[in-house]
Amino acid sequence: MIHNPERNQAVAEAMSDIRAIDLAGITRESVEQIRIRLIELANQRDLFPWDDFPPAESGDGSTLYLISQDDDHRFALYVQSVAERTEAPPHDHLTWACIVGLEGEEVNRKYKRAAGHGPPEVSEEFVVKRGTGIGFLPDDVHSIKVTGGSLNFHCYGHDLLDLPARNYWDEKSRQWKTMKVRFPIFDARS
Ligand SMILES: [Fe+2]
Repeated sequence: MIHNPERNQAVAEAMSDIRAIDLAGITRESVEQIRIRLIELANQRDLFPWDDFPPAESGDGSTLYLISQDDDHRFALYVQSVAERTEAPPHDHLTWACIVGLEGEEVNRKYKRAAGHGPPEVSEEFVVKRGTGIGFLPDDVHSIKVTGGSLNFHCYGHDLLDLPARNYWDEKSRQWKTMKVRFPIFDARS
């Protein structure tokens, strides 16, 4: 991880704006504002080269680099680096979440009902790629699938490691279960 003062400054400015949006209350509309602000940050594409965020060899294919977080565990911004493929079953986040593309494609499916209300049913499919993004309220359920590698922002209202176990749909047993995040997470704040 290379120290990059210009990147740190751009990230700090974005997160300051996102804090202010969050302060006014989390609604579908405010998550949309957060999404737009993150796209603006992603547009400074040269600040986030793939070389600075290499995917780890181990794990399930997805590596998270933490690039900003408050001392109270709020407002966590990660760069997610996927070498080839990764996927996650339908799950919620227990906090707001935004995914914004830098490189490659991440297929996101949204589901109709909150966790615990029967089997998930797809409502929408959206491909996150450079210049686009998707936002979620704490109860929204989505699944992701990457093939061919990707580099994205994953931003959450709260530190993933500090959150309680999220809800996910286990297709094998056909029931909702809970799990902690399994990806390797590197603290890349400098
Ligand atoms: Fe997610």
